[in-house]
Parts: sequence; C-alpha cells; structure tokens
Amino acid sequence: MAPRWWLLILCLTASVHHTRTQPDSKGFISIDCGLQGEESYVDEETKLVYVSDAAFTDTGTPYNISAEYFRPWGSRNVRSLRSFPDGVRNCYTLRSLVSGLKYIFRATFLYGNYDGLNQRPVSFDLYIGVNFWTVVNMSWWGSGQDSMGTLEAIVVVPHDLVQVCLINTGEGTPFISGLELRPLKMSLYPQATAEVGLLLRSRRNYAPINETTMRYPDDPYDRLWIPWSRATDWAAMSTTARVDSVDVDYFEAPMAVLQTAVTPLNASGSITFGWNAQPQPNNPLPGYLTVLHFVELQLLDRDAVRQFNITLNDESRFPGPTYTYTPPGYLNRGCVYNSFPYPRGSTYIFTIKATTNSMLPPILNAFEVFSVIPTTNVGTDIQDASAAMAIKAKYKVQKNWMGDPCFPKTMAWDSMNCSYATAGPPRITTINLSSNGLDGDISSSFANLKALKYLNLSNNNLTGSIPDVLSQLQSLTDIDLSDNQLNGSIPYGLLKRIQDGSLNLRHSNNPNLCTEDNSCQLVAKRKNKLAIYVVVPLLVIVVIVSMATLVLFLLRRRKKQKGSMNNMVTIKPQNEEEMRTSHGGANDSLRLVENRRFTYKELEMITNGFERVLGQGGFGRVYDGFLEDGTQVAVKLRSHSSNQGIKEFLAEAQILTRIHHKNLVAMIGYCKDGEYMALVYEYMSQGTLQMHIAGIHESLPWRQRLRIALESAQGLEYLHKGCNPPLIHRDVKSTNILLNARLEAKIADFGLSKAFDYYNENYISTNTIVGTPGYVDPEYQATVQPTTKSDVYSFGVVLLELVTGKPVILSDPEPKSIIHWVRQRLARGNIEGVVDVRMHDGYNVNVVWKVAEIALKCTAHTSVHRPTMADVVAQLQECVELEEGPTRDVNTCDSNNDYSRWNYNAYASGKSTDVSRNAAFQTELRMPTVDLGLAPATR
Ligand SMILES: *[C@@H]1O[C@H](CO)[C@@H](O)[C@H](O)[C@H]1NC(C)=O
Ligand SMILES: *[C@@H]1O[C@H](CO)[C@@H](O)[C@H](O)[C@H]1NC(C)=O
Ligand SMILES: *[C@@H]1O[C@H](CO)[C@@H](O)[C@H](O)[C@H]1NC(C)=O
Ligand SMILES: *[C@@H]1O[C@H](CO)[C@@H](O)[C@H](O)[C@H]1NC(C)=O
Ligand SMILES: *[C@@H]1O[C@H](CO)[C@@H](O)[C@H](O)[C@H]1NC(C)=O
Ligand SMILES: *[C@@H]1O[C@H](CO)[C@@H](O)[C@H](O)[C@H]1NC(C)=O
Repeated sequence: MAPRWWLLILCLTASVHHTRTQPDSKGFISIDCGLQGEESYVDEETKLVYVSDAAFTDTGTPYNISAEYFRPWGSRNVRSLRSFPDGVRNCYTLRSLVSGLKYIFRATFLYGNYDGLNQRPVSFDLYIGVNFWTVVNMSWWGSGQDSMGTLEAIVVVPHDLVQVCLINTGEGTPFISGLELRPLKMSLYPQATAEVGLLLRSRRNYAPINETTMRYPDDPYDRLWIPWSRATDWAAMSTTARVDSVDVDYFEAPMAVLQTAVTPLNASGSITFGWNAQPQPNNPLPGYLTVLHFVELQLLDRDAVRQFNITLNDESRFPGPTYTYTPPGYLNRGCVYNSFPYPRGSTYIFTIKATTNSMLPPILNAFEVFSVIPTTNVGTDIQDASAAMAIKAKYKVQKNWMGDPCFPKTMAWDSMNCSYATAGPPRITTINLSSNGLDGDISSSFANLKALKYLNLSNNNLTGSIPDVLSQLQSLTDIDLSDNQLNGSIPYGLLKRIQDGSLNLRHSNNPNLCTEDNSCQLVAKRKNKLAIYVVVPLLVIVVIVSMATLVLFLLRRRKKQKGSMNNMVTIKPQNEEEMRTSHGGANDSLRLVENRRFTYKELEMITNGFERVLGQGGFGRVYDGFLEDGTQVAVKLRSHSSNQGIKEFLAEAQILTRIHHKNLVAMIGYCKDGEYMALVYEYMSQGTLQMHIAGIHESLPWRQRLRIALESAQGLEYLHKGCNPPLIHRDVKSTNILLNARLEAKIADFGLSKAFDYYNENYISTNTIVGTPGYVDPEYQATVQPTTKSDVYSFGVVLLELVTGKPVILSDPEPKSIIHWVRQRLARGNIEGVVDVRMHDGYNVNVVWKVAEIALKCTAHTSVHRPTMADVVAQLQECVELEEGPTRDVNTCDSNNDYSRWNYNAYASGKSTDVSRNAAFQTELRMPTVDLGLAPATR
C-alpha cells in the first residue's frame, strides 16, 4: 500500500509544481520576483496572473523594497524582488516554451533600498540562455533609489527550455523585480532570427489620448508602448475610426496606438527625435534598427498629397540616409524599417520633413528602436543539459551548478568536463561526484548523457541497484561506484560491456552488492529464495552470451582489419583514448578530427608521395593533399629537425587544433613522426592575399579588399581576445592571409612562429626578433618583447597594402617604407595619390580615407597610441557598413512606396575629410541641441 500513497503524493506535488511554472493559455509567463512561496495575484491593469518566482529558481533571497518606495500608481510587480548575493551566475529556468519560436523577454528592476543599505548596485549582466542580453546599468534610469527600469528583448528560443541568467560582474549584487515572457508570431519582427536578437531601446506611442502606457489587452503581445508628446513642437491628431488591418503585417502595432499621431505645430516645420547609443561592455556603439509607423488619420481631398523625407542624421554631422515616403491611403497601416544596422554612431536623429510636392505636414504615429544582439553562441547539447539539471535537482548538488553546464568554459559546472567540438554543441564527457554526500538511488538521468566517458559516484551513500541503462552509453569507459550502499547484482548489459573490455566498473565496498567475491547469495536467500533460481541461470546465460559476443567481436575485428588494408588510405587515431572510443559514432569522429595526429606514412599517402608543391612556407614546403574522405588539404612539411623545440611544437599543435574561428585557417592535424614534423591545414584555393595585391591574380575590387581587411582583423582579434593567454601572431603579413574559393580571408601560421622560429632562416634573426622586414613593430624591435600591439602594427601595414596595392618597401628612388610614403601623401590631403589605381573609382573616397587613417593609427610608433584589434574590427565594420551601406536596406510595410531611395547625400557632396573624421572617431560627434526624449522608460 505504502508505495502507492507515495506515488499519489508525488504526482500531486509534481502537478502543482507543473502548473506554477507553466505558461498560461496565451503562452505568457508572468513572474513577480520575490513574492512569497505560492503566492499569485491578478494584476489590476492587465488582468494577467502574476506568480511567485520560487518555482523558477533555486538560489537567491526574496526581499520587499522599503515601504517608502511603494508606488501608489505603480504596478504591484516591483514591490518585491529577488537578490543574488552568492555565486557569479544565477538563473531562472523557463520551461514549456516552443522551440524555434520568437518571444519577448522582459525584465524589470527597482532597487527601492530593499537591503536597507541605500546603495544600488552599479551594474550586472543579463543573459538569455548562453547569449549576452544586456548589461543592466542602474544609472540609465536616473539616480534615485526608486527609479525603475525595464529591459526587453525579442529572441528566437532554440529549445523548449530557456534560462535567464544574472551575472555578477563585481559591480554590486544582482537583483530582479519582475520577469515576463510573451510569445510572438514568427512573422513579426523579421529582423529577429535564430542568429540575431533585438534589444529594445525605446518604443513610443505618439500623442496618446491619455498618458498611460499601452499594453495588454490593447496589445495582444503585451508590448509596452510608452506615451510620448511634445506640446511645444507637436500637435496631436487622433481618430476613433478603425485602422484597417492588412494581410501581411510585420509589426502588428495595436490599433489604439495607431489611432493617434503627431504633426508639427508649424506647418512648414519638421518632426525631429532621436536617441543616444546605449553602450554595452563589449560594444560601445551597438548597431540600431528602427521601425516607424505611419497611418493617415485625415481624409484627404482627392489631389492632396502628404509626402515627406525621412532623414537619419543630417549630412553636416554624419552621412545619413534620406528616404521619401508617402503614407498609404486613409486609415491604412504603413511603416518604414531597416533590416541591417545603420552606420554606427553615438547619437541618432531622425528628421521628418515635408517634401516640396507635399501640401500637408509630416505625421508620425509610433516608433520603435532596437539594437541587435548576436545569438550565435550554442549551449550544451539540450539532452545533456536537461539530464544535468535533473541530476542537480535530484541530489540537491551544492556547487556552482547554475545556467548552462558547459558554456561558457569559464563558468562550466564544477566536477564536470565537457568536449567542445568544431561543429555541434558542447557535450558533457565526465562527471565526478565522488564524496558529495549523495543519497537515494542512481539517477536514470545519467543514462541520458550520451557522450559521457567517465562517471565517478564513489564514496557516497547511494542505495538501490545499478541501472542497466548505463550500459547503453557507447562512450562510457569508466564507472566508479565504490564505497556506496548499493545492492542487487551487476546488471547484464554492464557485465557484457565489462567482459568485452569496453567498460571498466569499480564497485568495491558496497556490502550489499552481489559480485563473484561477495556472499550475496546469502543475502539474497534471506530476502527471497527465488532470487537464486533467477540469478544463477542468468549468470550462466550471461557467461554464454558474453563468450559468444566475444567470439563475434573478434571475428568482426579481424574482418575489419582485413577490409581496411584494402583501402588506399586509412588514418588511425594515435592516442589510446581515441582508440578506445573510436567506435562511438558521429560525435567521436568529430572529436577525432579535432585531435588528429598523422604518421609520416599517412602524409605520404595523403599527398600522393609529396607530388604537388603549393608553395614554400616559412619552415618548409607546402603540399597539396586529399584526406580519405576527399577533403582537400594543405600539408606543411618540415623535413629535418633538431631536438630543440619539439616539445613546444607538440604543445602548440595540440592547442592550435582546438582553436577555431572562421577567419583562421583551420588546422586539421599535425604529424610528429621521428624526425618529421608537419601540419595539415584546410585548403585555401585562392592563395595568399599578397598574390592578389601584387596583381598575379585579377585586381581585387575595393569592397572585396575591405571585407578581407575586416575578416583578417576578426581573425587576429580572436587570437588576441578569444585565446587565453592571448596568442600573438608575430608575423602578420599579406602572405599569411589566405583566401578560400569564396575569397574569404583567413589568417595562417598563427602562434606557430614560437616553435618554428628556431630554425627559420628567412626571418630576421637578430637575437630573438621574428617577423618580416617592413612589417616589424619598431617598439618590439627595441624591446624584444612582442605584444598584441606588435600584431596591430603589422596589420596596419597590411591595410596600407590593401589601399595602395604597393609593396611594403618601396624602392624609388631609395628604399622607403610604405608607412612613410602614405603618411607623406596624406599629410598633404592627397588621398587619391595613395589609392591603388587598379581600383579605378569603384570606391567611396570617405571610406578609403577612413581605412588609411585606421592604418596610420595602427602603425603609430609607440604602441600606446595604437588601437586594439577589437577597436580596429569595430572601425572596419563601420567602413563596410558605410561602403555597402543601407542603400538598398529600406523596407516599407506597404507596396506603393519606392524602395530604392535611401541615399547618402554626403557622398555626393565631396566633403570627404569632415565626414570621414566624424565617422571614424565618433567621440568627436557633438551632442545636438534637440530634445532627444531620452527620459527613463517608466510606466
Ligand atoms: C513582503 O511583504 C509581504 C506582505 O506585506 C509579506 O507577506 C512577506 O512576507 C514579505 N516578504 C519578505 C521577504 O519579507
Ligand atoms: C553605466 O552608464 C553610465 C552612464 O550612462 C556610464 O558612464 C557607465 O560607464 C556605465 N557602466 C557600465 C558598467 O556599463
Ligand atoms: C486610456 O486610453 C485607452 C486607449 O485609448 C483606454 O482603453 C483607457 O480606458 C484610457 N484610460 C483612461 C483612464 O482614460
Ligand atoms: C515655421 O518654420 C519655418 C521653417 O522652420 C520658420 O521659418 C518659421 O519662422 C516658423 N514659423 C513659426 C510661426 O514658428
Ligand atoms: C527629399 O529627398 C529627395 C531625395 O533625396 C531630395 O531630392 C529632395 O530635395 C528632398 N526634399 C526636401 C524638401 O528636403
Ligand atoms: C552516509 O550517511 C551517513 C548518515 O547520514 C553519514 O554519517 C555518512 O558520513 C555518509 N557517508 C558518506 C560517504 O557520505
């Protein structure tokens, strides 16, 4: 009887728990953080049910804000909060979402002196899953202890479970007052995709009838539309007539929002508004996207025209696009939006002004602005992550087990190891929970960790029997269950794995466990005589079956070996661990590639006897080759060696096989076989950048050069910032930038100079300076101490090569560095005299000027005056945006408007130097005098 009662109670508690964390019928989740355990209430304004956060998180402490900060008019949502004094990462887990669907995430913050210290935290970070959402900078919302802030993002969720995490960045204790989740139709906000999320900067409803924030139920998606009016400049317009809905509506602004609009008080005036860039820790100038909503609210005479120019930033400040727009007919929805961020700046100002054709002033109904957030980080395999969370919950593990188990590496869960393959999500490979006071039985969730290799649960108080499903984990090679209270016998599946040698099980000191050398028959007899009749025949069967499988296995192995000898090329993993797990399917083959070590014989086969030479590298020849699967590779071979540096070579090769970035030439493997050392790289069919610059190939157009500059800068930035410790390339030059078939640039030879420069004759070899004449940082030459800024210097030289198409050391009439040559000409304002004539005029002079300026900053004599690679990437990004520009990036929600008329007035006006200075160095942009309307987003 007893077990059934337990079952019933379990079911009941489970279902209560279930409903409390379940989205409501509309798919909404509305959490009032810090509310008492099971408490919930109906919000007066929205009639939505808000629930306590207790079921969504298992850390933090609930608090009430100080009573003096209760808002008589405010929502109840912010009276309590949850504070997270412990741990770096603390998370809320939102379940039962629809994987692949678009959601609004909204977090609310009000400090209200909850801790009695009268000291707000300065800032902390917010993440959605493994992707950075935003910094929560309390000063954005004013200085008061009671200022309230709301942050919203539109994100496509990759799984049905998403965690929202607060990260303590050492600037105060993170807290949160409210967390809301609202599903969106997939077609809404087309700019938000699986790779890109949107962070709301502002959403305004112009001239509403009353000054309240419009939200649910007026807006079925419960977006917050903040009222906005400016009586000194704008007149309000409104209608009670229905605004028509349209078949395809990408934004579905609520009708009540569209029924009101503003127009200038002065009929010949304009509507001007804007925003300031809101800096993020790693992104001082985020890129912005906007949506402007227009609906004609006035029934116009037949030949009356309302038409206006929408201009972003006037040309005297920054080259902004202008778009001429005519709202669709009476009460029809219209909008204008962009899909790619505008050129980055610190201030953005829209001016909406009637055209000369227009008989009526401009209007504006609503406005939304977002910055983009990349959402390309991939969290732990979802099945692994769910299993890990279940294990954590079952054993109430007290560790840093919060958020994603493997990502980022720096916050990976203690007592776990993960594998990070090039393709696919991280996987959990080892768990060591030895001596953690675990009790209860062995969780079946362990069996869901399909990539698990090593499981240690020794020295706990685990009871019950050993689950047989563990035997189905193909990669599992070691289980340690010793020093527990387990009983029963070792299940058949595991016995089989032990016998075929694929699994090592330790189980000593489990007094009740039946094993060969344990008197478990006695125990079994006492419990149930039947057991013997079952166990004994079973054992016999087990022995027979395992012997049979052993024979089969041996036969198969022989067959396999025979078969493989017939193949042209077979490549076997070299280290033992790989040998053991190499029959584990797709994941293992990925891991194999990652750590591949070749023998000299294999290289011979791959390169068909070192037949075709691709080029001469710094330390030997490079050969063309094909792996057994047909992948083309480049094999760099050093034919003779001394003992010096071998250890470094191996160590570095191991590291480099783990470094992956789309702008670094991927290393597929390496060889250290007797005296032979070699590296196997991905094949780059278009050769070196230098070949293209020197005109061996057809000359590259400017846009291509710019992309190559940006891509190689990103590769270097990754070496400097993505690697720990930072990798200094030490030989950045145009021959070390390779191009693939799509002319995408990748950096080659990174990090290896250290191991190889001992032998290199081609380098300058005074003391230990390495590098190539023309590219070497003078400061490095003086101090013999390479820094990341030495790479920046060399990269600046590459930029000059791209702009000028000239060699790095010019020889007319006497040798002169390209830096010197460009500086002299630019000092006289002569950009045209510098630019590669082979580009003809297929370039934007402002952008070329800006790139030249970046190059000269990079090649500053002292390193402190040089930018970092991250700065360079940001500035080159702007150049690409300027060059490729949103010229074609205008979208309207209606079909009667011309799509192709965003254009940069400043480009035509030839004020090149002014524009480029402003664009390049945004700090020089002065604050305009117009009211930007940047007051806090209150409601
Ligand atoms: C907050 O206030 C409510 C109502 O006044 C009370 O029931 C609750 O216990 C308080 N919570 C905390 C954490 O003090
Ligand atoms: C927070 O914002 C203020 C002003 O907007 C800024 O000065 C400060 O650097 C920001 N801090 C962080 C950590 O983003
Ligand atoms: C404010 O306006 C909205 C929409 O027009 C309306 O639903 C609401 O009742 C109004 N509230 C007040 C207090 O007038
Ligand atoms: C209206 O705006 C125009 C152009 O901005 C300006 O010249 C004129 O003085 C303004 N009239 C009034 C009444 O403010
Ligand atoms: C509006 O923009 C068009 C196209 O850029 C331009 O030709 C025209 O002069 C502008 N009109 C006004 C009044 O600014
Ligand atoms: C097992 O549990 C007992 C009683 O709760 C405790 O005293 C003992 O230390 C535990 N042993 C291990 C290895 O955790």
